[in-house]
Amino acid sequence: MNNKNFEHALQGIKYPKLNRTLGELKLISTAKITDENAHVELLTVSDESYLMVKTAIENAFANEFKSLNITKKAQVQKDTNYGTTATPNNRAPYAANVIAVTSGKGGVGKSTVSVNLAIALAQLGYKVGLLDADVYGPNVPRLTNTDLEKISWNDNNKIVPSENYGLKIMSVALTTPTSDTPLVWRSSVAVSALIQFLEDVAWGALDFMVIDMPPGTGDIQLTMAQELPITAGVLVTTPQLVASDDVSRAIRMFQDIHVPMAGLVENMSYFIAPDTGNRYDIFGSGGGARLAKRYNIPLLGQIPLDMEIREGSDNGEPPVALGSDTQKKYYQDIVQRMLEEIKFKL
Ligand SMILES: Nc1ncnc2c1ncn2[C@@H]1O[C@H](COP(=O)(O)OP(=O)(O)OP(=O)(O)O)[C@@H](O)[C@H]1O
Ligand SMILES: [Mg+2]
Repeated sequence: MNNKNFEHALQGIKYPKLNRTLGELKLISTAKITDENAHVELLTVSDESYLMVKTAIENAFANEFKSLNITKKAQVQKDTNYGTTATPNNRAPYAANVIAVTSGKGGVGKSTVSVNLAIALAQLGYKVGLLDADVYGPNVPRLTNTDLEKISWNDNNKIVPSENYGLKIMSVALTTPTSDTPLVWRSSVAVSALIQFLEDVAWGALDFMVIDMPPGTGDIQLTMAQELPITAGVLVTTPQLVASDDVSRAIRMFQDIHVPMAGLVENMSYFIAPDTGNRYDIFGSGGGARLAKRYNIPLLGQIPLDMEIREGSDNGEPPVALGSDTQKKYYQDIVQRMLEEIKFKL
């Protein structure tokens, strides 16, 4: 094997689990054979990808050479200048407004609310992107019926987002072999993946970027607040959690990092019996309103616990697009209030 064949063979190796070759991803810096000793220098960015590519190359050339030495080129960091929450970077200059949907706790309906609010904005004629920032539990593809899609690249080497219900959609679930592949990333890797989703996705000009945040108040939330000027935060909670520390923590974090709160959404607020249509305030009523008052943030709306909302959502049929008029109105009214509360750039 000569240098040229060697390089050609290297370029053709597939990046593990992706439909792209090392050549396409421009990951080979140099490839050289001297006296049957091969040396490859890689341009991988993270240690994780270096180890993965190294193994793929070693497997491809097992016993081919006397020695196979694979190193990683020291890279000039693309941009180590991380922002602060007071003067955040803007990794998404193409988005006029960024809305972060959060909650103190998991399972309260953040993703459902994010998807339906994003679609309600698109129904008003706005250009809307939906970023699934929940890298460890990405649900957006299932909720938007894009879970069988895989990412592709355009001619400018940008990732093409999925599209459905008038939204452009990006999620790590679109990059894994199956949408339920568990991710075991360190949070630093998760953060770089999200930054790549902001910078390397062909979003086009957006009126709104809606971000479905992971639950809690951790690294990802902080990074997003440092890397993006978040126009408004929407806090989702349920009546049982209204008085909990998790919710107060989430509100305080937004205040600490200077993100204006558009308001509170009380989800699974009351129950509508499917047979009689009767309303039951299982957890009492008025919790969301009291919380909103206590922190001086608007109550944007209440969404009942509704079997059809769950069924539609789990089937990738968002209620604001395909539900009854009553269901559509829950989300459309919330968006209306939000547009009144915050001075968005439109
Ligand atoms: N108003 C509602 N009525 C009935 N079911 C709902 C409602 N809102 C959400 N759900 C259901 O509750 C479950 C959790 O919702 P969702 O995934 O949106 O929560 P989440 O806060 O994003 O959760 P996680 O923290 O795991 O990301 C889903 O099965 C969803 O269909
Ligand atoms: Mg979620």
